[in-house]
Amino acid sequence: MRSVALFTIFSAALLIHSIDGTVFFKEQFLDGDAWKSRWVNSEHKSDYGQFKLTSGNFYGDVEKDKGLQTSQDARFYALSARFEPFSNEGKSLVIQFTVKHEQKIDCGGGYVKVFPSDLNQADMHGDSQYYIMFGPDICGYSTKKVHVIFNYKGKNHLIKKEIKCKDDELTHLYTLILNPDQTYEVKIDNEKVESGSFEDDWDFLPPKKIKDPNAKKPEDWDDRAKIDDAEDTKPEDWDKPENIPDPDAKKPDDWDEDMDGEWEPPMIPNPDYKGEWKPKQIDNPNYKGAWVHPEIDNPEYSPDSNIYKFDSIGVIGLDLWQVKSGTIFDNFLISDDVKEAEDFGNETWGVTKGPEKKMKEEQDEKKRKEEEEKNKEQDTESDDDEDEEEEEEGGQEEEEEEDSEEPPKEDDEDDDAHDEL
Ligand SMILES: *[C@@H]1O[C@H](CO)[C@@H](O)[C@H](O)[C@H]1NC(C)=O
Repeated sequence: MRSVALFTIFSAALLIHSIDGTVFFKEQFLDGDAWKSRWVNSEHKSDYGQFKLTSGNFYGDVEKDKGLQTSQDARFYALSARFEPFSNEGKSLVIQFTVKHEQKIDCGGGYVKVFPSDLNQADMHGDSQYYIMFGPDICGYSTKKVHVIFNYKGKNHLIKKEIKCKDDELTHLYTLILNPDQTYEVKIDNEKVESGSFEDDWDFLPPKKIKDPNAKKPEDWDDRAKIDDAEDTKPEDWDKPENIPDPDAKKPDDWDEDMDGEWEPPMIPNPDYKGEWKPKQIDNPNYKGAWVHPEIDNPEYSPDSNIYKFDSIGVIGLDLWQVKSGTIFDNFLISDDVKEAEDFGNETWGVTKGPEKKMKEEQDEKKRKEEEEKNKEQDTESDDDEDEEEEEEGGQEEEEEEDSEEPPKEDDEDDDAHDEL
C-alpha cells in the first residue's frame, strides 16, 4: 500500500515539474525587424560592430535559421536583451543558444553573458559586471574552448577544466545547466561534454585544508635516502693534474729566449685525470622518508551552498570581439527545465542541422568543381608542364591560408584577457 501511495506522489510531482517549467527568455528571430525593439545596442563606444538578421550563406531553413550575424571585421560588439528578472534559487538554470561560425572564424568570441537586471544596457561593455559567461571562444590554433565563468562575490571565476569547442562552419547548440545542488553540465549539440561540481571545478572558495603553520620538520629528521660510504677511501693514485704540458709540442726553431722568454710547451687535458674523488653512495640506515607537512582545516574556509544562486537575473548580452565577422547567433533560451531545453534544441537546431550540412556540402562540391574547371582551362591555355601546374596549385592554397590567419591586434587580446578576470 505504502509504496503505491509513494509512487503516486512521486509521479504527480514529476508531472507538475514538467508542466511547471518556466521559460524566462526565448529568441528565435522569427518576426522580421521586430528584434530591433527587443535588443539594445550599447553606446559605450561609438564604433561597435553591427549585427544583421540573416540565415547566412547556407542553412537548413532560410526563415527559421535567421539569427544575428556579426557583419563587420575587427570590431567589438555589444548588444543585449532584457527579460523579466528572476532568481534561480532552488531550481535548475539552463542557458542555451546556437552559434554558427560560417566565416571560418580565425579569432573571436561566440559566447553570451548573462547579467543582473540592473545592467545599464546602453552602457554595456567589456567590464560590465555579469553573472555568467558561457560559450565558445576561438583564437588561432591554441584557443578553442568553451568558457564557463561565474561571478561569485564580485569576482569572476573561470572553470579549471579545458572544454573544447566546435571549430567548423556549421551551426552548433551550446547548453549550460546549473543545478541547485551545485553541480553543472555543459552540452554541445545536446550531448554532454563536461559535468561536475562547483567545488571541484572552480576555485570559488579558499582551500578546505592548509599546511599547519605550527608544524615544522624535526631537526633530526633524516630525509637523505643515500649517504657517503664511510668505508670507502680515495685510491692513492687518484690525484692527477687536470692539464699537462703537451708531450708532442716542440720549441719552434726561431724561438729566441732573450726576446721571447723561456719556452714552455702548451698545456693539454690530462688523459689520466679522474676528476674529484667522491665516496660510493650507500642506503642511509637512518632514512625516514620525505617529511610530509601535516594539514589542518583552513580557518578561512566555510562552505557555501548558494554559490549557484543569482538574484534578479535580467539581461542576456553578446559582448565580444571578432577579427573576421560572420558568426550567427540564434535560438536563445533561458529556462529552468532541462528537458524542455533539450526539446527546444531538438526542434530548432535538431531539425535544421541536417539540411544545413547538406546545403553546405553541395556548395563546397560546386566550388570544388568550379576550381577544377578553372584549372583545366588554365592548363589548356598554357603549355605548362606538370611540375609548373603543381606549383601553381600549391600557391593558391597558401594564399587562402594566409587570408584566414590574420592575427588579432594586441589591444584586443588585452581586452579578452580582461574579460576573463
Ligand atoms: C532529442 O533528440 C535526441 C536525438 O534524436 C533524442 O535522443 C532525445 O530523446 C531528444 N530529446 C527530447 C527531450 O526529446
